[in-house]
Formats: sequence, structure tokens, C-alpha cells
Amino acid sequence: HKGEHRHFMAKEIHEQPKVVGQTLAQYIAPDGTIRLPAGVDADLRTVDRVSIVACGTSFYAGLIAKYWFERYAKLPVEIDIASEFRYRDVPFGAGNLAIFVSQSGETADTLASLEFAKTHGQRVLAVVNVQTSTMARSSHIVMPTLAGPEIGVASTKAFTCQLAILLCIAIAAGRSRGVLSAEEERSLVRTLAEIPDYMARALELEPKVHELAREIARARDALFIGRGTNYPLALEGALKLKEVTYIHAEGYAAGELKHGPIALIDKGLPVIVIAPYDATFEKTMSNMQEVIARGGRIILLTDERGASLAASSGCSVLALPDMPPIVAPLALAVPLQLLAYHSAAIMGTDVDQPRNLAKSVTVE
Ligand code: M6R
Repeated sequence: HKGEHRHFMAKEIHEQPKVVGQTLAQYIAPDGTIRLPAGVDADLRTVDRVSIVACGTSFYAGLIAKYWFERYAKLPVEIDIASEFRYRDVPFGAGNLAIFVSQSGETADTLASLEFAKTHGQRVLAVVNVQTSTMARSSHIVMPTLAGPEIGVASTKAFTCQLAILLCIAIAAGRSRGVLSAEEERSLVRTLAEIPDYMARALELEPKVHELAREIARARDALFIGRGTNYPLALEGALKLKEVTYIHAEGYAAGELKHGPIALIDKGLPVIVIAPYDATFEKTMSNMQEVIARGGRIILLTDERGASLAASSGCSVLALPDMPPIVAPLALAVPLQLLAYHSAAIMGTDVDQPRNLAKSVTVE
């Protein structure tokens, strides 16, 4: 049940520090290294490519993981939406590991893609939340997210738990492929252990998010932009908002703004800019200035350092503490979820059961 919360979505957002901590704890060994299920290390050492396949929010978790596999393991990643993957002429190679990501483990297109990969002799690893699901039973390796039952149709805690697992796999891959040294691995693992605290700090932004949600609740459209891992987060922020408020929202890579969506900018269009202080911060700031110059209304989701650099821009700022890069996507997801939730709660929509949506999509 919902406990002190009005909706399951709120409860599930608040559970995240705990369930992400549990999910990570499964794979952090007492010696401060990552320990994956038997056989996975050997797989990761020998593969030359990873395929990630999923739908919806689970797909966005995969998109974020692509950046991690490239950075920490120098492994090429091919990622696709399950409803596309299953109908493509995928050139499956011998040295491929196929990863399927799903909360329910019953999504029809993801399951069909999994069978398609198995038919082509692929090793199949599933990151699933429902451990009794068809997907869990059909995979060679299962790495469960320990999010607990997710009732709200909008996925929240399953998403961040998926990120936690994918991060563990990417770091372990880096180590077993000799890209990361033992010391680098230990240092990343120490940072992993801090993720729940950063997520708890992100939850403290809730009153401020609620204020900003009043503005979103009046908007007809919204745009989310970011670069690097903030780009899939922009897609996820937009998906969350449209699912629960029915406001038309789009996520874009910030660099794509000039290639079309900037035509939409006017006073009535809130633009949520996701930009902690990282290697792409300055670039995203110049995109933000372009929006401001055209009368656009900005909500900047950043960290302390980013907030101090953007102080003179006059936009609304949501600032998290400064955080290591691997923490950022998990912590930044929280205010985006809260923004969607509070906007919907203000508008009075059916937050946990939005119209036309089902919790698991078992038809194609
Ligand atoms: O159960 P799955 O993770 O396979 O579901 C995939 C999507 O249907 C799901 O993430 C959907 O997009 C959510 N409603 C997003 O909040």
C-alpha cells in the first residue's frame, strides 16, 4: 500500500535510495570490487560487442548504459528499441552479448527480441525486476533489480535500479577487459556505494520542484534537453511528464536544438535543461542562452558548480550537490520524476493509472 503517500508513484520515487542501495549491494564484494554472477566476467572478457534491447523507460536506461560501456570498458554497444530490433536483419556475431532490460519481464516485443537473439545463438543476459517473469526464465543469465513491486504505471524506481545494475556490468567489463586498473575499479565502487546518499539529497529538492510544477501544469508543451548521459535523461524526463500529465513533451539532444526544435521556442514553452557541471556544460549553456534570447522559459537542473556558473542567467534552478559523473544520471532522474509527479498531482490526473496505458505491454 501507499503508506504516507497519496500515490504509488510518489512512494516509489521516495523508495529509490533504499532499493538502489539493495540492488547495488548484490554485486559489491567485501573487498570493494564488483562480483557478477558466475560466467558473466568470462563473457565480458571475450565479447567484442554488447547489444542492448528494451522498450520505453527501460530503453532509456540502456541508452545511458551505452555511454558507460564505452567509457569504462571501451566496448562498442548496439542499442535498439525491441519493436525495431526484432524485425531487423541484425548481423549477429559470435562475440556478442545481448542484454535485455525490463521491469515486468513480460513486454511482448522485448521477449520476442530475446527469442530472436537466442535463435541466433546469442548469450542472453536479462536485467529484470520481476524475478518470476518469462524473461527471467528464458535468459542464460539474470541480474535482478531489487526495486520491489512497482505499481505506478510510470516507471521510476525500476529505472534507477536498472541503471545501478548496468553500471556494475560496465565497471566489471572494464576491469575484466583490462581497461580499468584494480585501483580504478575500487575507486568507482566506493563512489557506487555513495549513490543512495546522493539520491536522498535529490529528494530534498521536492518542495522547490513542487513550486516549478505549478508552471509546468499550465503549459501545453515542454521541451527537455541535455548532452551525453543527460540526453537519454531528457528523453526519460519528457516521457515521464507526458505519461502522467498528458502534456506534450519532447526530449532532445541539446545540440539538435538548432536543427529544428528551436522553432518552437516562445514564452509559453518551458525548456528543462539538464546540465550538471561536466565536459559538455559550456556547450549546453550556450544552447540555453539561445533559448533565453528567444524568450524561452528555462528550468535548469544542475549541480552546485553549474548553478553558480549559471547564476546570472535569471532562470529557475534546481541544484543537486556536486557529484561524481557515474552518480549523476541516477541522482538527476529523481527531480525529473518529481517534476512529472507534482505537475500531474496539481492537474489532478490519474497519476498511477494514466489513461490508455498498461503497466506491462504484453501485446505488440
Ligand atoms: O516492463 P518493461 O520495463 O519491459 O516496460 C517497458 C515500457 O513499457 C515501460 O518502461 C513504459 O515506457 C513505462 N510506462 C514508462 O514509465
